[in-house]
Amino acid sequence: MKAKLLTLCLLCPLAAQAQPRHEQTLGDGWQFSRDGQSWQAVSVPHDWAISGPFDKKWDLQTVRIEQNGEKQASEKSGRSGALPWIGKGRYKRTITIPSSFAGHAELVFDGAMAEPTVSVNGQQAGYWAYGYNTFRVDITPYINIGDNTLEVSLQNLEESSRWYPGAGLYRPVTLVLTGKEHLDRWGTYFRTLSIDGSTAEVEVTAKALGGDAVEMSLIDGNGHIVAAAHNDIDKSGQVCTTMEVADARLWSPEAPSRYRLRIQLMEGGRTIDEITEMVGIRTVSVSRDGGFRLNGVTRKLRGVCLHHDLGPLGAAVNKAALIRQIKILKEMGCDAIRTAHNMPSQLQMQVCDSLGMMVMAESFDMWIYPKCKNGYARFFKEWSDRDIENLVLAHRNHPSIVMWSIGNEIPEQGDKKAVDIVNRLQGLCHQLDPSRPVTQGMDRAEQALSSGFAQAMDVPGFNYRVHKYKKNLEQLPQGFLLGSETASTVSSRGVYKFPVVPNDNSKFSSWAPTYDPTALKTADGQCSSYDVEWCSWSNLPDDDWRWQDDYPWVIGEFVWTGFDYLGEPTPYDEYWPSRSSYFGICDLAGLPKDRYWLYRSHWNKEQHTIHLLPHWTWGTAKQSKGRKGAKAGGAASRIGQVTPVYCYTDYPEAELFVNGKSQGRIRKNATERLDRYRLRWNEVTYEPGELRVVVYDDHGKACGQQALKTAGEPATLQLDVWTQQSPQLPLPFCGDTKAALHADGEDLAFITVSMVDADGTLVPTAQDQLTFEVEGAGTYRAACNGDATSLEPFTEPTMRLFNGQLVVVVQAARQQGTLILTVNDAERQMKSCAAIAVK
Ligand code: GAL
Repeated sequence: MKAKLLTLCLLCPLAAQAQPRHEQTLGDGWQFSRDGQSWQAVSVPHDWAISGPFDKKWDLQTVRIEQNGEKQASEKSGRSGALPWIGKGRYKRTITIPSSFAGHAELVFDGAMAEPTVSVNGQQAGYWAYGYNTFRVDITPYINIGDNTLEVSLQNLEESSRWYPGAGLYRPVTLVLTGKEHLDRWGTYFRTLSIDGSTAEVEVTAKALGGDAVEMSLIDGNGHIVAAAHNDIDKSGQVCTTMEVADARLWSPEAPSRYRLRIQLMEGGRTIDEITEMVGIRTVSVSRDGGFRLNGVTRKLRGVCLHHDLGPLGAAVNKAALIRQIKILKEMGCDAIRTAHNMPSQLQMQVCDSLGMMVMAESFDMWIYPKCKNGYARFFKEWSDRDIENLVLAHRNHPSIVMWSIGNEIPEQGDKKAVDIVNRLQGLCHQLDPSRPVTQGMDRAEQALSSGFAQAMDVPGFNYRVHKYKKNLEQLPQGFLLGSETASTVSSRGVYKFPVVPNDNSKFSSWAPTYDPTALKTADGQCSSYDVEWCSWSNLPDDDWRWQDDYPWVIGEFVWTGFDYLGEPTPYDEYWPSRSSYFGICDLAGLPKDRYWLYRSHWNKEQHTIHLLPHWTWGTAKQSKGRKGAKAGGAASRIGQVTPVYCYTDYPEAELFVNGKSQGRIRKNATERLDRYRLRWNEVTYEPGELRVVVYDDHGKACGQQALKTAGEPATLQLDVWTQQSPQLPLPFCGDTKAALHADGEDLAFITVSMVDADGTLVPTAQDQLTFEVEGAGTYRAACNGDATSLEPFTEPTMRLFNGQLVVVVQAARQQGTLILTVNDAERQMKSCAAIAVK
C-alpha cells in the first residue's frame, strides 16, 4: 500500500503536466552535402572544412590589412586557415513529432556558419545572417505529426573573415517541443542585486505564454530549496520578483558555486511547464576607486583572448575540448577569457560557469565599415540590434560572464557620429541586462578619445599601445581603463633562434618600412620561443605587466591569445606554407609554449613556477649534427657557442649551473625591460650535460630547483592520456594512467605523444613521422603537432612530431569497452599503446 502511494505521488507532477517539455539535441542522423548531389552521414556539431586538404588556393588574397597599419595591398595566404570553408553546404535530417503534440515547436541553433536558411518540409521557416550567433526558429506552422524533413542551407563568402571561421552546423541544434502555454527560456533572467554579509538579494524574471502563476525556486547543490516565490501572471506574461538568500555561496573563479533555478508555469494549481537554469550569485562592478570588483573585492583581470576554433577539431564545439582549454588556462593563473571577436557557444559558457572562469562576451569585429570585403558589415545596419538581443538574452544567466563587448577595433571609432551606435548598442545591453558593464576594444586611442567613443563606454578597453595608457586616462571620465587586448607576442613551441634579439618582425612584411626582401626568402615560418618577438603594433608580456602592476587604474588585461588558432599567421602573412597563428601562449595542439610558464610565474599565486629554457639538446659529442630531416628547432650543434638561458619563476633570484659550474647568481631587476619578470643568463656557453637552476626567495633561502638534461638517442614514444575525468592537468608529462571516457559518442581523450630517451628526457629534435590506429570502443578523431607550417591534414591518422611532441585526439564510442590507441614510428620500429576505459 505504502509503495503504491509513493509511486502515485512520484507520478503526480508528470501526470499533471498538460504537455511535457521535450528538449532534444539533434546530434546524429544528419546528411551533409556540398553540392546537393552526393550526401554523407554526419553528426552535429560538424565542421565541413577541417579535414582539408590545406591549400593556399582556398583563401589566397591580395589585400591591405588596415588594422596592421598596412599602406599597400600584398598577397596573403593562410589568412583564414587555408582550409576549404568558402562555398555552400547543406544539411538535412528527419525530425519526428509525437502524436501527442499539440503546442509549440522551435529549433534553437547555437550558431551556424554562415547565413543559415532553415526549411521544414520544403518551406522556409527561418534565416539568420551572422554565423556566430544563437537564434531560434518557430517551426510550429510547418510541422506535421510524424516525420518531417529539416534542411539547413549555409553559405560562406570569400573574404568574410579575418581568421578561420569554420563551416557548417558547428554548434548544437536543439528541438524544443512544449504545450501552447509555456515558458520562454530566454525570458528567464536571474541577477544578484546586492550582497550584504552572507545574505544576498536576487531578482528573478520569468516570461510565460499562458498559465496563471509562476513558481520560482532556487535550489542549492544539496538539493535544498534556499529561496522560493509564487507570482500570479498578469496580462504581460512577465513576472519579476526579488528573493533573499541566506548563507549565500558566492560564485567566483576560485569557488564557482552555482544554484539551480527552477521556474514552473502553473494553471489552476497544476504545473504545465517547467525549466531549470544553472545560475550563480555574484556581483560585478567597475568604478574609479575600486577598479573591477567581483563580489565587492577589487581584482585585476588576468585574461586571455580566445578565438572559437579548437585547433585540430576546427570550429566544431566539444565539451571535453573546452574543459581542457579552461583547465590549462586556470592552471596558468588565468581567471578570464574574452570570446574574440564574436558570440560564445552555450557549452563554453557552461564550462566557464562550472570551472570558474570569468568571461568578456564579445559580439562584433566590425560595424558598418568593412574590415574584409564580405564581413559582417554587410549585415550590421539591419541585424546588429537583433544580434545583441540574442547574445544577451541567451547568455545573461551565466555567472561567468562579467561584461559584454560591443566591438573590436571598430574602424568607426574616430567618427563622432558613430557614438550614437555606441550608445544604442551599449544601451540595449543595459536594457536587457542592467547587471553588467559594457566594453569594446579600441586600437586607435587618439581617435577614440577625440570622437567620444572611449568616454562613452562603461569600460574603456584599449588594444596594445601601453605607452599611451597614461595619456588616455587623463581624458577618461571613468578614471580607469582595461587592456582589452595585450601582448601579441609570437612564438613557436620548441623553436629557439640565435642570436637572441628582441624584434618586431616587421622585416617579413612587404608593406613595412623595415621590410627586408631577403628575410622571407630564408624564413622557416617559425618564431623564437625565447619570447622576444612581437608585431609592429604589439609588445611583450613584460611590457604589459609594468602597467598592470604599477597603476591601480589599469583594471586588467586580455592577452592575445591563450591558444594558437587557425588563420592569421602573422608575422608570416606573406609566407607559404603557414596557416595558423603564433600568438598563442599554448600551441594549436594545446601544448604549452615556454610563454605559458612566464604567465604562470606571474599569474598563479597559489603555486610556484620554475621553468628553464631553451631545451638543452644542442649536440652531444656523438650526435653533433642533428637528425636528418629535422625542421625548425632541429638542433644543429651549439657546442662551444653562446646559448642564453632564461628562467621563468615567481622567485626573485636564482643561480644557474652548467654541469655543476656556476653561471652566476642573479636577481630580477625592475629597471630593465626584460629583467623585471625573467631571470636571464645571456652569456652561457653550451656544453652537453646538465643545466640546473636553484631559486632563492627574498630572504636568500634556497627554495627549489629544476634541471634540464641533454637528451640521448630516442628510445620510447611516451603517451600521456588526458580526459575530462582526469584529476591531473593535460600538461605534458602528467598523463592519467586510469583515464576513462564517457560512453556517449562525444567524449574525447587527448594523448600527448612525446619522443623520449632511455631516461625519459624529451628528445626536442625528434620530427619523426608517426601513424595512429584506434581499436575497440572509440575512433580516431584528429592529431595536431602545433607546427603552423604543417600541411598534414588533422583528420588523417598520421603526422610528424614537431620538436618531439604532438597530440592525438580520440573519441569515445556509445558502447562501453576499452579504446586502444597504437602509435607507430615505422622508421625506428617503435610502437606505444594507450588503453582507455570507456564507461
Ligand atoms: C588585433 C586584433 C586581433 C588580432 C591581433 C593580432 O589588432 O584585434 O583580432 O588581429 O591584432 O595581433
